[in-house]
Amino acid sequence: MSPDTWQAVAIASEIGKRPRRILLAGVPVVLFRSGETIAALHDRCPHRHVELSKGKVENGEIECPYHGWRFNAAGGCTAIPGHTGAVPGYRVPRLTTFVKEGVVFVASGAPKDEPYLHCAEGQKIIVKLVSSSTRSTLVDAAENILDATHTHFTHKGLLRGLSSERQRVRVDVTGGPGWVEACYTGEERQNGLISRLLEGERVRTIGRFRYPGIAELEYWGPKGLVLATTFHLRQAAESQVDGIGCLIGPQGGLLDHLKSLAFRPMFRIALEQDRRVLASASRNAAYCPQASAIIGPLDFLRRSIEAIMDGAAPPAANQPESFSFEL
Ligand code: FES
Ligand SMILES: [Fe+2]
Repeated sequence: MSPDTWQAVAIASEIGKRPRRILLAGVPVVLFRSGETIAALHDRCPHRHVELSKGKVENGEIECPYHGWRFNAAGGCTAIPGHTGAVPGYRVPRLTTFVKEGVVFVASGAPKDEPYLHCAEGQKIIVKLVSSSTRSTLVDAAENILDATHTHFTHKGLLRGLSSERQRVRVDVTGGPGWVEACYTGEERQNGLISRLLEGERVRTIGRFRYPGIAELEYWGPKGLVLATTFHLRQAAESQVDGIGCLIGPQGGLLDHLKSLAFRPMFRIALEQDRRVLASASRNAAYCPQASAIIGPLDFLRRSIEAIMDGAAPPAANQPESFSFEL
């Protein structure tokens, strides 16, 4: 990932007195509180490679549990207990951090812009944060979030009704450098539990992917945005995808508040259903690593997501496409 790309890695409120270990493309990173900010260092003491996250935080510095060497937020060694001379300039590699509305972002360089957090920034909304970890690949997990056609089966009753009735809808796929989106129109209100409780009439649904692993869904009613989710995904380890999600609803009266309370638990059920199918695919892929998966006629975003993650322009950027199908 380029040094000036921010990656969401944690929910700030989950980092308290104790340090927290996360994985970023196979690299262990320790997050800890240092003064007003959150620091991020490689989670490996340069002395004997012990996990710093197993140690404790003292005065904004992290102390290794083995011999007590201490490191500040910049990764510099500040103490070697028992050593009476000057402390040599040992260092642990550090990452730049930025906390935005309760979400911790890291970057290997120093990006000049603030991180992108969610699709309704600057609007009057309520945001709830969730985190998740799934056995999968980033492309599979992002596609899953944006894939409308699995909901009838994986989320029957929750996101879709119990009947197998379908409606003819239109989808317009557009894209640009680092992004692709599918806009669905012609769908009436859905019959799943979540839609019945939380939504009114639906005018359009947008599913969007952005580099380096942001999958977002927007549900629009006649008066504007009704519900949205922005999920920041990252390949934590070889077959582990971790995510931080923003669940977004409009800010308003008591009803909106109750709805936003209901959103998270129901969303968690859907997430668990998705985790099961993604883990099933991932386990199976391990048995036949050579086999390529079919990109079917309704997998509108797959090629574009793959291209974006390869650093190429998505096919949809050159050629916007429209399809009609039954959803
Ligand atoms: S291994 Fe960390 S202080 Fe020795
Ligand atoms: Fe799903």
